[in-house]
Amino acid sequence: MGEPVIINEVGLRDGLQNQPNPVRTEDKSRLAQALVDAGLRHIEPVSFVHPGAVPRMADAAEFTEQLPRGEDLHYTALVPNLKGYEKARDAGYQTVALVLSTTETFNQRNLNMALDDAIASCQTILHQANEDGLNTRTYISGAFACPYEGPVTVGTTLHLTHEMIEAGSAEIAIADTIGGGTPKQMKDIMAPLLHSYDPERFFVHLHDTRGLAAAMAWEAADLGVRRFDASVGGLGGCPFAPGATGNMATEDLVYMLEACGFDTGVSIHKLREAVEIANEITGGQWGGRILDWIRSQEEQGKAVPVS
Ligand code: COA
Ligand code: ZN
Repeated sequence: MGEPVIINEVGLRDGLQNQPNPVRTEDKSRLAQALVDAGLRHIEPVSFVHPGAVPRMADAAEFTEQLPRGEDLHYTALVPNLKGYEKARDAGYQTVALVLSTTETFNQRNLNMALDDAIASCQTILHQANEDGLNTRTYISGAFACPYEGPVTVGTTLHLTHEMIEAGSAEIAIADTIGGGTPKQMKDIMAPLLHSYDPERFFVHLHDTRGLAAAMAWEAADLGVRRFDASVGGLGGCPFAPGATGNMATEDLVYMLEACGFDTGVSIHKLREAVEIANEITGGQWGGRILDWIRSQEEQGKAVPVS
C-alpha cells in the first residue's frame, strides 16, 4: 500500500455554493452518501454564511443533521466570521475552516471587511475555537492571485500564513481560489513552509481555471504535502471571485496520486456515481478529465486500471 494522502472533498460547499439553481437538501444528502460510499472520509459540506450572500448554503444546519455519520468521518464547516463560527460549533462541527484573503479588495468583497479587520476576526475566532477545543484550518484565499488586484507575492502569502499559525491555527490551507497560480509559485510558497512546519499542518486547495491544477498538486505532493482539497466532478467556482472556474476534480486528483503510488482510499469507479448525482441535482455537466478516458477505454472494450 502506498503512502496515505488525505483528500478533503469540498464539492458540497465550494461547488454547490455557486450553482445557478437551488439544490434540495435531500439531494445534497444523496451526494454526501455517494461521496462517503466512494471512500471519502474528509468532507466540507457547508458554510455558515449570510443566506443573502450565499443562498445555496441557507440549509447548512438542516443538511448537517442529514449527513452520514461514522467515527472515521471528518466534517468541516467554513465560517466567515464569529457568528458563523458559533453556528458551526453549535451544529456540532469539530473542525472549522476560516477564510483570510490576501488583498484588501478580496476581503472586502468576500467578507465585507478590510484586511486588518479580517486578520483580527480570524484571531478572535481562532482564540475562541482553541478555547472550545475545536480543530482549526485557515484558508489563505487568493494565495497565488487575487481576482481584483492581480498577482499576489509569495511574501504576502507566507506572512499571512505565519500570522495565522501564530494566532493558533492548527492547519493552513494554501488556496488558489481563482486558479491563477503556477507550479513554480507552489514551490516558492510550500518549500519554506514545509521547512519550518510539520507537513501535516498544510492543505492545498486548487481551482483548474487555466489547466495547471494537476501540475500544482503534483508539485505540492513532491514537496511533501499530503492533504488536498478537491471537488467531485470539478464542481465549483466562487461567487466573490469572478472568472474562477471549478476546483480540481476529485477523480483527477485521485487518479494522479494513485498512479504515482499514493493511497487515497477513494474509488474512482464509485466516484463516477457521485459525479452522476452531482450532474443530476445541479443540471450541470461536470466531470474530471479521467472520466472521458475511462469512457473511451470502456467503449473500446479495454481494461480500465483504476480502483
Ligand atoms: N451567518 C448568518 N448571518 C450572519 C452571519 C453569518 N455568518 N454573519 C452576520 N450575519 C447577519 C447578522 O446577524 C446581521 O443580521 P441582522 O441584519 O438581521 O442583524 C447581518 O448578517 C449583518 O451582519 P454583519 O456582521 O454586518 O455582516 P455583513 O453584512 O458585513 O456580512 C458576511 C458579512 C461574512 C456574513 C457576509 O459577507 C457573508 O456571508 N459572506 C459570504 C462569504 C462566502 O461564503 N464566501 C465564499 C467562500 S470563501
Ligand atoms: Zn475554492
